[in-house]
Amino acid sequence: MRAKPKTIMFSKRSLISSVAVLGFFMATGATSRSGGEKDGKAIFLESKCSNCHSISSQDIKGLRPEGGAKPSDLSNVGSKFKAEWFEKWLMKEETLYNKKHMKKFKGTPEDLHTLATWLETLKEKK
Ligand code: HEC
Repeated sequence: MRAKPKTIMFSKRSLISSVAVLGFFMATGATSRSGGEKDGKAIFLESKCSNCHSISSQDIKGLRPEGGAKPSDLSNVGSKFKAEWFEKWLMKEETLYNKKHMKKFKGTPEDLHTLATWLETLKEKK
């Protein structure tokens, strides 16, 4: 049995509640910070797009061997398509040369949007 000395109950309780409030603010601050940091490049790597695609302008190397059956490097893909197209393409709702994409995007709609918006920014400067 744990002893509960009544005399220090009050101060102890207020200490605990202020720690709890502080902890709550620290926790929410931490989650929103890490959530906001996730950019298109991070999602691209996390989604293993780089297992197949390279983006040389972003220092992303595809895992496929040079000269092998390799999908295109995406360094200039933003000059060809818009974000809305990428979203559909990655969900296999859009075709290219009569084919759908090999992989359907598995992440959240927010991540899909961030990724698609980022892909549109990939334009090689002439
Ligand atoms: C299993 C291999 C593979 C994975 C993984 C993969 N792709 Fe692809 N992707 C392809 C192939 C094959 C094509 C069609 C050939 C091409 O366009 O190079 C393609 C085409 C594309 C295109 C059109 C490129 C163009 O200009 O023709 C985009 C954009 C694209 N992929 C983005 C992604 C993104 C983003 C991811 C990650 C969510 C991803 N891909 C994951 C194989 C893959």
